[in-house]
Amino acid sequence: MSPTRHGSGNDPWFSLRASEHPWLNLLFDDGTGSGAAHLARLAPNGTIEPELQRRALMRFLMAFSHRPNPRVMLRLERGQGSFTAEEQRGAAAFRDRCESCHSARLSAELATTRVPFDGWERLVLEPRGPIVWARDGYERTGIVPYVHANGARPSSLRRIADKRPYFTNGSATSLDLVVRGARLDGERFLHGGAPDAAEAIPKDEAAALVAFLRLL
Ligand code: HEC
Repeated sequence: MSPTRHGSGNDPWFSLRASEHPWLNLLFDDGTGSGAAHLARLAPNGTIEPELQRRALMRFLMAFSHRPNPRVMLRLERGQGSFTAEEQRGAAAFRDRCESCHSARLSAELATTRVPFDGWERLVLEPRGPIVWARDGYERTGIVPYVHANGARPSSLRRIADKRPYFTNGSATSLDLVVRGARLDGERFLHGGAPDAAEAIPKDEAAALVAFLRLL
């Protein structure tokens, strides 16, 4: 294999001097908050060899997870551990209109991890909010240009309130606009480009849906 030059200008197999890259201490933090001390033990001469870099990156990725859901933390602090009536209506609307694509799975690739409707409230109102609201496969929902010949993967809606703007083309700036733009053209669900005659979501149901989406 011929050596490839990458964006950094480094060959992929290179060593680093710990003293020149203080931020690397974060990568070596072993949970005690002192990455520097841990790094000094692993690389006493201050050189981080290629294999050590790869081990550190793997450890970091294994420990890495979503931050606790800030909106749920706030709710729990106020002692609100269950859905409001509006959120409950929103959950039901989501089940009927959205979940066929944004599946209530714990792992998007694994259909067996799908959580039944009566289990949603408990998991949504948990700080780690583990449901990913996505599945494998592609769908053509009218959000163009399509990023793949078959459309796009149903995006994960986990922490969706924090991920503006929406869609691969950035065409919706709020959840309100996403929900107001949703249409049913006969049996076909569309996020964009629907014909005028296609059916929109009734206003009160749309508001409930947004309240539910904000919790994910
Ligand atoms: C037929 C499958 C399907 C249905 C049903 C569906 N979606 Fe989607 N959704 C998708 C796909 C595919 C995308 C990615 C489109 C893109 O960005 O190119 C998407 C993207 C989104 C996004 C943007 C995510 C992001 O990070 O940009 C939101 C929000 C969303 N959907 C909410 C909903 C809601 C709410 C409903 C129900 C009213 C719904 N979807 C119903 C397939 C679907």
